[in-house]
Amino acid sequence: MSKYQTEIQRRRTFAIISHPDAGKTTLTEKFLLYGGAIAQAGQVKGKKNARAATSDWMEIEKQRGISVTSSVMQFQYEGFCINILDTPGHQDFSEDTYRTLMAADSAVMVIDAAKGVEAQTRKLFKVCALRDIPIFTFINKMDREARDPFELCEELEHELGIDTYAVNWPIGCGKEFQGVYDRRERKIIHFTSNTNARAATATQIELDDPALPGLIGQAKKDQLTDEIELLDGASCDFDLDRVRHGKLSPVFFGSALTNFGVEPFLEEFLRMTTAPLPRRAGDELIDSFDDDFSAFVFKIQANMNKAHRDRIAFMRVVSGRFDAEKEVYHVQQGKKLRLSRPQQLMAAEREIIEEAYAGDIIGVFDPGIFSIGDTLCVPGKKFQFDPIPTFAPEHFQRIRSVDTMKRKQFLKGVEQIAQEGAIQIFKTPYSGMEEVIVGVVGTLQFDVLEYRLRSEYNVELYKEGLPYEFLRWIVREEEDPIPFKEEDLLLPGDAKLVEDYKGNQLLLFASRWSIQWVQERNKQLKLAEFGGAKF
Ligand code: G4P
Repeated sequence: MSKYQTEIQRRRTFAIISHPDAGKTTLTEKFLLYGGAIAQAGQVKGKKNARAATSDWMEIEKQRGISVTSSVMQFQYEGFCINILDTPGHQDFSEDTYRTLMAADSAVMVIDAAKGVEAQTRKLFKVCALRDIPIFTFINKMDREARDPFELCEELEHELGIDTYAVNWPIGCGKEFQGVYDRRERKIIHFTSNTNARAATATQIELDDPALPGLIGQAKKDQLTDEIELLDGASCDFDLDRVRHGKLSPVFFGSALTNFGVEPFLEEFLRMTTAPLPRRAGDELIDSFDDDFSAFVFKIQANMNKAHRDRIAFMRVVSGRFDAEKEVYHVQQGKKLRLSRPQQLMAAEREIIEEAYAGDIIGVFDPGIFSIGDTLCVPGKKFQFDPIPTFAPEHFQRIRSVDTMKRKQFLKGVEQIAQEGAIQIFKTPYSGMEEVIVGVVGTLQFDVLEYRLRSEYNVELYKEGLPYEFLRWIVREEEDPIPFKEEDLLLPGDAKLVEDYKGNQLLLFASRWSIQWVQERNKQLKLAEFGGAKF
């Protein structure tokens, strides 16, 4: 194996999802701590106090205590090079989460043991399931009073519609959380102390070791024996293939805060996951181990650092090795270019890098040329990765600048923010450029838009809510290039024909009923629920 193949082989790239407060930040921090990427707890960007340092443009984040943006961190652990993609906790930004998942090969879902499946877990899980990516469940906060582990697994299966396999099983909870039983090794990992340093110290002991009752108490031992028997008899068999296809979720119990169970989780996770997965580009499958570099943009983030007013395009390296010295080909623009200031996030630090490998995420300075889904590859190649699907917005506003003299800034700002994927923008055919129809998946995105237009473009918005709740893309065959006109279509009063800025035509509807109405009366129309690729 060549050096670069070895580098690719040791890479793992996963996204971490959870309902806010389940412990995603704490768990991420522990991973980084074990990997030596940070020296002490409290350094991860997601922590409330440090958050301001990395995304201070997002006053909204601070004001509301939510994470609007997602970021990427890399660390080394036992020979592996691991990329963690953090996802925004708030449901209004699930589109961002979806894009982030496109860049990941698996997901870690953190669940609060006292709460089980929560609203946001449900929503994020749905987004994961769209891609069939492997989902690993970490049931956190076992050091507190927790719900019955059987009940928690059942709830996961029932609510999320995925089979589960408990890889380990907790011994007690709260102050009595003493360890986990490793089902594969048939051993107990008994946690002995929490030094809050790298990892919890633990001893391993067989289930039938006569010393066990002395260690955990006879009652706990009897309970554990019964539970294991029940588990072995009732649960699904472990099937790695089903795990890798997102059909079976391995479940782990632990406590990120006290480090209990975090290391066993990380080790099993690394054992069960694969090296970076290929990505589809039309009829081609681009393999991670291909010699030639390729990547796609999955996220654009503006003003990560207010002092520099910068805009960073995040891309997932799909194949080969990225070399900062070499020119790459930007397929959508048909241009050769050198990626400017390529960087990686190491915990809270940004670091300029010279090279990266398949599986890695790099951020490059974007002078306004990249869009979500763009392909980069070596000059001479021209394939395009399958587009990242766009979610249909559910809320719409008509907006314009209060000050008509600021039309230019207004348009520039709205277009840039749309290019980043934070909002979707539309216009009515033949309408002027004074006003724009904005569509969002969650209403908080409107607040972000307004805030950013004011602070970055000095534009005050005039907004008017629109009654639409549904949007459908009009599917066009290549052979019918002439767009529909409103008079060609039979539309009810609460439906509207609009265009996006790429020339695609869409219909806005106020009710499901009118979608049906339009379909029944316009047989020539083919409507799609998602833009871009099909799921
Ligand atoms: P999030 O990123 O998913 O939103 O959650 P985060 O890690 O910020 O954790 C939310 C709260 O839960 C934090 O407490 C954190 O310390 C606590 N927590 C995380 N994991 C565990 C665990 O395994 N056991 C227990 N008992 N608590 C846990 P906080 O008081 O809100 O914040 P902080 O002041 O501790 O930072």
